[in-house]
Amino acid sequence: MIKVMQFAKSFGTKLVHQNVNFNVKKGECLGLIGGSGTGKSVILRSLIGLEKPDQGLIYIDGVEISKMNEFDLKEIRKKVAYVFQGGALFDSLSVYENLAYPLREHTHLTEELISEKIVQTLHNLGLHDSLNLTPNQLSGGMQKRVGLARAMVMNPDVLLYDEPTAGLDPYNTKRIQELILKLKSDGVTSILVTHDMPVALAVCDRLILLLKGEVGEEMTPKEFYTTQQSKMKKFISGEAF
Ligand SMILES: Nc1ncnc2c1ncn2[C@@H]1O[C@H](COP(=O)(O)OP(=O)(O)OP(=O)(O)O)[C@@H](O)[C@H]1O
Ligand SMILES: [Mg+2]
Repeated sequence: MIKVMQFAKSFGTKLVHQNVNFNVKKGECLGLIGGSGTGKSVILRSLIGLEKPDQGLIYIDGVEISKMNEFDLKEIRKKVAYVFQGGALFDSLSVYENLAYPLREHTHLTEELISEKIVQTLHNLGLHDSLNLTPNQLSGGMQKRVGLARAMVMNPDVLLYDEPTAGLDPYNTKRIQELILKLKSDGVTSILVTHDMPVALAVCDRLILLLKGEVGEEMTPKEFYTTQQSKMKKFISGEAF
């Protein structure tokens, strides 16, 4: 479903990615692990064409997207939804309007169907009482869930989660974790960027560690538990590389 080949990206003189290669099968959840600034968000942004690689190829469902124009990218963004690290909600719009926006932009649904979809999605996420509130009237955890709701409302084939549980209490973390698992069981392909290893180990089929501009290690959660010494374990224990 996703294939990234020889991906390279620099900003000015700062080399972030040198040669990143990975793929994600249909229905699989890939954990993308790495230190702050290793370029995890840059990779996710590149998968929906918000960032262009300097070199390399990105395939989404067999289609190469790295050189696509904005018009063609719109089609990709119907399939691939990004749950932004900072929520990226429209501050002046209500929760309802935040969810209606992508539906009006990307579908031809009637307002009645849009309303039905939004109410159902918010209900599933325990946000039905927040319809008319604006993001600044919500707690951090609720804002995270609204960000997720906005991605889910499009019924995407692929979901890219950028630190969906960062800053959440254990209860909300567990709810998001359950939601990711539920979407996975519905067949959604996903990439989970997180520093929260218990969540990553619980929901991901495979984990990759970004290191020095490349994929430094790849393993399954089972291998993570059974391997005595791994870069991933070193990374988590806070050791320097
Ligand atoms: N638009 C941009 N212009 C210049 N530099 C950028 C831009 N976007 C990202 N970078 C740089 O690329 C590097 C990787 O950024 P990125 O946000 O992908 O890191 P990250 O792995 O997601 O980190 P974190 O875990 O803190 O979210 C950083 O050094 C950042 O400053
Ligand atoms: Mg990031």
